[in-house]
Amino acid sequence: MSSADIGLIGLAVMGSNLALNIAEKGYTIAVHNRTAARIDEFVVTAREQGLEGRIVPEADLAGFIGAIKRPRSVIIMVKAGKPVDDMIELLLPHLDPGDAILECGNSLYTDTDRRFAYLHGKAIGYLGVGVSGGEEGARHGPSIMVGGSKQQWHNAEPILTAISAKFNGEACVAYLGEGGAGHFVKTIHNGIEYGDMQMIAEVYGVMRDGLGMSPLAASEVFKEWNKGPLNSYLIEITGHVLAAVDEPTGRPLVELILDKAGQKGTGAWSAVAAQQLGVPATAIEGAVAARSISSRKNERVAAEAVYGARKGGKADVSLADLERALLAGKIVSYAQGFAVMAQASRDNGWELPLATIAKIWRAGCIIRSRFLDQMSAAYAKGDGRNLLLVPDFVALMKDAHPALRKVVAAGAVGEFPLICLSAALSYFDSYRQAQGTANLIQGQRDFFGAHGFEIVGRGPDQHGKWPSTLGK
Ligand SMILES: NC(=O)c1ccc[n+]([C@@H]2O[C@H](COP(=O)([O-])OP(=O)(O)OC[C@H]3O[C@@H](n4cnc5c(N)ncnc54)[C@H](OP(=O)(O)O)[C@@H]3O)[C@@H](O)[C@H]2O)c1
Repeated sequence: MSSADIGLIGLAVMGSNLALNIAEKGYTIAVHNRTAARIDEFVVTAREQGLEGRIVPEADLAGFIGAIKRPRSVIIMVKAGKPVDDMIELLLPHLDPGDAILECGNSLYTDTDRRFAYLHGKAIGYLGVGVSGGEEGARHGPSIMVGGSKQQWHNAEPILTAISAKFNGEACVAYLGEGGAGHFVKTIHNGIEYGDMQMIAEVYGVMRDGLGMSPLAASEVFKEWNKGPLNSYLIEITGHVLAAVDEPTGRPLVELILDKAGQKGTGAWSAVAAQQLGVPATAIEGAVAARSISSRKNERVAAEAVYGARKGGKADVSLADLERALLAGKIVSYAQGFAVMAQASRDNGWELPLATIAKIWRAGCIIRSRFLDQMSAAYAKGDGRNLLLVPDFVALMKDAHPALRKVVAAGAVGEFPLICLSAALSYFDSYRQAQGTANLIQGQRDFFGAHGFEIVGRGPDQHGKWPSTLGK
């Protein structure tokens, strides 16, 4: 008998928590996983949480599909990439026109576009759904970014709304456009997340090496900052991570964790997307690059032996400077991420609702913050301009950029790596410089390639009379 309101395939961390969330909201859900043992483990967890009655476990794919009410909605929550395509092919013989797949992993948005078109041709609906918030979010309320056909969105909206995070009673879920729009926005969310995390880590580096602070002392500062304009999930958890103690040794846990962080998937894609769209996103690119450098531990050890460790010495910055520098860096990073989305929206005909995106990131996701509430209000009033030109943020930036300058200068003098913060500052200084230096680049390009340049007042396609440098 078909009793399930929806089905879900992929019972790893995200899928199992999402399934429990759906069951908790009163829906009956059929569940399936390639490896059957995971289904058994999931049933035990569901029983422990009193939700077993709303779970229909099915190790057989045909049985799983048969358990879902028509028209069927099937969530796929498996490893991104080829496993998603494989899963779609396995599902297709069992689905009927009018059924829908909701792919909720971290997929590359162009893959989602392709799958959307492929399944549209078979009259199967396809939603590419970005889900943020990790394990905790999936279980108790993630931020949900939906792309695909509007009709499918209307069908899925009640369940997705029920399971989403809420901010002041507003559901953190929205339909963002056709095809890969939802996965694109999730990708940029993750790029911004990289930026936030990297800038926090850089400030921690200044506290540790430039101010001689212990992890516990730094933890207290982050806890205090969480009461102010930086209030956010990432600042909050930073306070907890820095305070944690390794039980066997009694030492601060953070000092024992290997300083290598990977970057793949959405982080790298966000930087690549920015480049492909021709939108500068230097803070996000810096954050991705910083992770790559971190992962080259052996090379860093060798280079330190060649150049010597930094000389030490106290950084000439206060904690108040660091707080405001972090705020300024964050404003620039978000301005860049939103500019990337605005351009992608124009190029793909998506009409991405920037104010709504800021709204659905206010709760449930990793970058949730008080700041996003201000941003959504600013974008709702604004006209899609770069955040650095929106009045409320102009005032914040005018107040905070001198501190960012001071911290980056201290980094340069004191030999602290501040890839992301310095990239944010250089972007800001480039962005607000009416007379730049690309005039020289245009001259160089014309010199070696006759590319031409524009002379103000005389028009484009002008050339210089350059001396020959051949044979010199
Ligand atoms: N973890 C997070 O915090 C997080 C947050 C947001 C989004 N995401 C995204 O959500 C998705 C799921 O993440 P996850 O961490 O829960 O799981 P995961 O480790 O990315 O994937 C494991 C799941 O994929 C299944 N799978 C792998 N290859 C398969 C194949 N060829 N055919 C069928 N099933 C296959 C596994 O089945 P078996 O049990 O049979 O191996 C298992 O259910 C990913 O796209 C991930 O990037 C993760």
